[in-house]
Amino acid sequence: MKFLEMSKAIVFGGAGFIGSFVCDELSRKGYEVTIFDIKPSPYLADGQEMIVGDILDEELVTNAIAGHDYVLNFAGIADIDQCANQPLDAIRYNILGNAVILEACVKAGIKRYLFASSAYVYSNSGAIYKNTKQAAELFIETYHQRHQLPYAIIRYGSLYGPRSDARNSIYRIIKEALTEGKIHYKGTGEETREYIHVQDAAELTVRILEEDAFAQQHLVLTGSQSIKYRDLLDMIKEMLNHQVEIEYLPNTSKTHYKLTPYAFAPKLGRKLVNNPFIDMGQGLLQIMEHVHEEGDKF
Ligand SMILES: NC(=O)c1ccc[n+]([C@@H]2O[C@H](COP(=O)([O-])OP(=O)(O)OC[C@H]3O[C@@H](n4cnc5c(N)ncnc54)[C@H](O)[C@@H]3O)[C@@H](O)[C@H]2O)c1
Repeated sequence: MKFLEMSKAIVFGGAGFIGSFVCDELSRKGYEVTIFDIKPSPYLADGQEMIVGDILDEELVTNAIAGHDYVLNFAGIADIDQCANQPLDAIRYNILGNAVILEACVKAGIKRYLFASSAYVYSNSGAIYKNTKQAAELFIETYHQRHQLPYAIIRYGSLYGPRSDARNSIYRIIKEALTEGKIHYKGTGEETREYIHVQDAAELTVRILEEDAFAQQHLVLTGSQSIKYRDLLDMIKEMLNHQVEIEYLPNTSKTHYKLTPYAFAPKLGRKLVNNPFIDMGQGLLQIMEHVHEEGDKF
């Protein structure tokens, strides 16, 4: 079922990588979009409103949500290593920040709360980052039980695409290849990922927000095909006319998974895939252009 045009959606973390593409998709589908972020969005589009603020500011969050139909939360610390190094900040922004938004959603009587969780949520990796996502999911479920707050939780897998930065593995690899002519990869190359282009993810996100079938669901959103890092690196090398050297280094990190983020857990999410609109080669080219536009020479 589609909702009436001009439903109002507010997107916390809407200036970030995934959030900004979701805002674009919401605008494209006729929503009135408000972005709430700690920094002004460089991607603010015509007709979108911007509120600059902190998700921990209860009064500001409550006032911002009032009058909105849909609330989406992409704000907080998205980087696994940053969460591991700054656990208290991770807890503050990813758990308490989510709770502040939940309280305001109850007061406003919204139609659906959509939360950006992670495929790491019930994996054996991910450390503090994973814990913050587990806790946030539990609070959302409890708010539904206590206050009938409608929700959908999306567990995103490995995303890639333009507007990403050095925290994103594909961005890092391409930037290194373009600026240094060399890729230092930590691992054997046998590690696999199911990458999904951020635009495909944004489109599915808005479907999950608005379709009845996804009410109170935990959805896993990844690409439909897994790719080994070795193949990915070879593909990038070929796209750069073999002008890149690849060096495999020992992997010392224990926070990232090798083959799969899934471990047996009591709360499985439904995996949702679509036919990708953007294929991997096209997507990689977009990032090469993006890095190039940032002014890097190669
Ligand atoms: N990128 C991925 O591959 C991926 C995978 C799985 C899950 N996720 C989840 O999706 C969400 C978005 O990830 P992303 O990659 O777009 O990250 P991002 O860092 O690009 O976006 C997060 C946004 O939140 C904003 N923000 C941070 N703290 C804030 C605060 N206190 N108040 C208001 N705004 C604040 C940031 O300014 C930023 O614009 C995160 O919850 C992340 O854990 C991302």
